[in-house]
Amino acid sequence: MTPSVVDVPPVVDTVNLVKIYQDGGVPVPAVRGVDLRVAAGEFVAIMGPSGSGKSTLVHMLGGLESRTSGEIWLDGQRADTLGESAWALLRRRKIGFVFQFFNLVANMTVADNVELPALLAGVSAREARRRREHLLGELGLTDRADAAPAQLAGGEQQRVALARALANEPSLLLADEPTGNLDSRNTRDVLRLLGEVHRDGQTVILVTHDARVASLADRVVSLLDGQIVDDGGAGLVRRRPRGGAGDVVELRG
Ligand SMILES: Nc1ncnc2c1ncn2[C@@H]1O[C@H](COP(=O)(O)OP(=O)(O)OP(=O)(O)O)[C@@H](O)[C@H]1O
Ligand SMILES: [Mg+2]
Repeated sequence: MTPSVVDVPPVVDTVNLVKIYQDGGVPVPAVRGVDLRVAAGEFVAIMGPSGSGKSTLVHMLGGLESRTSGEIWLDGQRADTLGESAWALLRRRKIGFVFQFFNLVANMTVADNVELPALLAGVSAREARRRREHLLGELGLTDRADAAPAQLAGGEQQRVALARALANEPSLLLADEPTGNLDSRNTRDVLRLLGEVHRDGQTVILVTHDARVASLADRVVSLLDGQIVDDGGAGLVRRRPRGGAGDVVELRG
């Protein structure tokens, strides 16, 4: 029996969301009226050609980019009207980010990189350490805890970035081409982990160019010129028949 997800507000709900950059006085419309609703526990892939507004959209969902007009609701709370510091607080409590270029802090160890978000969120040092040990263990990185990011391979760095994004137990994980710089073996590892956290109930929004990656999602949203042109989902959690990680393992590079 599926719990009554309709009673729970969507994790993400945007209303006519618009972003127009100003490029030397020239308006560049990047997102043009997006209504996107993502239910708790969904795994949504966002696809579309280069320049279609994918990154702009997910950056706005995390408050890394301001919106020009429209509304953003996260867990039933209006978010687009928040100021910088309120967004920062919301991110620490609710949102994890994984980017294409890992974005680890170069002069901190792997362990410190993973602990930092929890410490910033006011979690005790002891709890931050517990989460870090747990996550690095899950991601097979325990023996790299004292290394600097530059000493790690790309796939390892991306796993550290994933651990860092999960350290605050976010209700929403935003990933912008997290496998864009990885070879097929590391891509498989990162996707297996995403599949696992999704099966544990994590809501995931994943930007990707790779149809094989997108095929792991419950739902594929296609953007073109800043608008949704295809939305392959009803917006409710579907139970996948023994999927996720198993599917990823079948991926061939
Ligand atoms: N800071 C910026 N200033 C001006 N224009 C921008 C800025 N960032 C993005 N754009 C423009 O907005 C549009 C959408 O860009 P965006 O990066 O969101 O696309 P994308 O779908 O993520 O592309 P890619 O697949 O190449 O990552 C593009 O036309 C881009 O040139
Ligand atoms: Mg992009």
